[in-house]
Amino acid sequence: MAVVVMAINLRNPVSLDPENVEDFRDLAHLMVDDIVDYIAGLSDRPVWQPITDQEKNSFNQPIPLQPQGEASAYQDFKDNVFYQPMGNLHPRFWGWVMGNGVPLAAFADLFASIMNPNLGGGDHVANYVERQVVDWCKQIVGFPSDASGLLVSGGSMANFIGLAVARNTMAGFDVRNKGIAAAPAKLTVYASSETHSSNYKTVEQLGIGKDWMRFIPVDRNFSMNIDLLEEAIAADKAAGYQPVCIIGNAGTTNTGAFDNLNDIADIAERENVWFHVDGAFGALARLSPKYGHITAGMERADSLAFDLHKWMYLPMGVACILIRNFEDHINTFAVSPDYLSHMPRGLAGGDHAWYGDLGIELSRSFRALKVWLTFKAYGIDHFARQIEQDIDHAKYLALLVEQQPNLELLDSVPLNIVCFRYLPEEGFEGEINELNREIMLRLHERGLAVPSYTRLNSNFALRVSITNHRSKPADFEYLVEKVIEIGEEILGA
Ligand SMILES: Cc1ncc(COP(=O)(O)O)c(C=O)c1O
Repeated sequence: MAVVVMAINLRNPVSLDPENVEDFRDLAHLMVDDIVDYIAGLSDRPVWQPITDQEKNSFNQPIPLQPQGEASAYQDFKDNVFYQPMGNLHPRFWGWVMGNGVPLAAFADLFASIMNPNLGGGDHVANYVERQVVDWCKQIVGFPSDASGLLVSGGSMANFIGLAVARNTMAGFDVRNKGIAAAPAKLTVYASSETHSSNYKTVEQLGIGKDWMRFIPVDRNFSMNIDLLEEAIAADKAAGYQPVCIIGNAGTTNTGAFDNLNDIADIAERENVWFHVDGAFGALARLSPKYGHITAGMERADSLAFDLHKWMYLPMGVACILIRNFEDHINTFAVSPDYLSHMPRGLAGGDHAWYGDLGIELSRSFRALKVWLTFKAYGIDHFARQIEQDIDHAKYLALLVEQQPNLELLDSVPLNIVCFRYLPEEGFEGEINELNREIMLRLHERGLAVPSYTRLNSNFALRVSITNHRSKPADFEYLVEKVIEIGEEILGA
């Protein structure tokens, strides 16, 4: 007994709550002021700046064993982190596909952390917020109200969940217990050659193997050649393989191209194959009265993945996966150890499925809150207008590019992505791809603008992907001016 008493130290209790509430309140007010000032002055800052060696060294410190204090740690954050952003919140950031954040949603994230619920399960209000958000998401993309759905960390995870359900539902044997090695025939998956890498990453991780993913060539508009899709399925069936899933693109990463989703849905129905749509950003175009028709057929998918941190502009870490049939969804992921069993009443009760049974994550953050608060505050019609504005900006940039003899448009701009390049005068003997790469690097390094890059038909393209609610027409005029200026500077050097 004496030994136990010595080992337990209850005389000097410790906690991680603020020692002095008023000091903490002052610090919290300062943080809010810093945030609001920062957002207000955004466009005066460079889009991105390289991090110096000295700055990198500030992250090479010994582990802090002793407290430095809240205010002092916050000052370090301001000195070394806060003013060195990736840049995707700036009006002239158009790299890859990234939303630029909604300030109100950031405060929702703060409240999500303060409330700190775990949305793996249980009967508490956060689950009802997520359920509400998933229901709204179904309405946005035209899915039936009894479909199943889940919020996840991003488009890659949304594709993963959709394709895992596809595999387990269509394999025709008990994949969960027997494992993929028990498959009587090789499973095959189909997607266009333009499909996002997260889809084949998933096919690899699901044990199907990338060699069994058929990358169907695209037409000139970068959408899947439907005849070749049909031929590939027929050939695989004739060879004794088992087609399980076709992935349709609703907005490809390279150019924003859409596959003909109605044709794919018809083929999937006829061939008894799952139809998954990767609509990471393009699915949200459905909100636009002017451009929404481009998504036709998407609503027929068995599963549909889309991000909310891309074209809903929300802070990172939220996407949605919808599965048409709830049973298919829960049968893929539900587990029932004693410590997670549902109770008839109390915190472990509730009349809803637990979200931990609909995906990989058990402990799940309250990512639904930022969606709920933002949708309510600004209204879906505002998002529709915002998305339309991005597409209109893309069309405007395409016009600006076409007006310049030294610029060449490299795609037809079906949505919000513009790919173009600088073309020097006749007689230029250098490498045009190398020249454009250098233009892009200088744009980044000088903090002028951040387009990203891709290759279209082997041409290095400056790729401007517009999911940015802060951009204005003048930002695109500036980009064109700077590309030409830097091009001439390199040629004149
Ligand atoms: C078409 C498409 N699918 C999936 C993804 C992956 O999404 P995330 O980066 O949110 O994981 C992306 C990312 O840009 C994308 O463009």
